[in-house]
Amino acid sequence: MEDEFLEAVVEAARAARESAYAPYSGFRVGAAVISESGKIYVGCNVENASYGATLCAERAAMAAMIAAGERRLVTVAVYVDAEDPAMPCGICRQWISELGPHAEIISSAPSGMKRTTIEQLLPEPFTLRRST
Ligand code: THU
Repeated sequence: MEDEFLEAVVEAARAARESAYAPYSGFRVGAAVISESGKIYVGCNVENASYGATLCAERAAMAAMIAAGERRLVTVAVYVDAEDPAMPCGICRQWISELGPHAEIISSAPSGMKRTTIEQLLPEPFTLRRST
């Protein structure tokens, strides 16, 4: 990925974090995905008084991409203002794997950036092998 595009997707995730609704954990997360067409879609975590109903930033960004009519992503960026970058949770890994089986994952915090792939984070994912 070109440096400029990398900066843009990380900045989109950082900015999305500002909108996070995290009154229970106080842990605000921003995410941005790059779709196959090259567009960026953002999301933030949305918590709920029924804690298990919480939506992660990554899934919010992926839902925005789907709502826009796209079906494939190539990159997922996650931004937190914590000591270390945060990696996507297990449910988000399953979502990423479905929509971007070879996706690159870019996790950032003020201290730095970690780059990996969904294949590394979720080897042998569950799949129904259906067409969408
Ligand atoms: N969270 C995310 O948004 N993404 C992840 O991958 C892990 C966790 C959110 C959910 C919850 O609002 C807060 O972080 C603390 O778990």
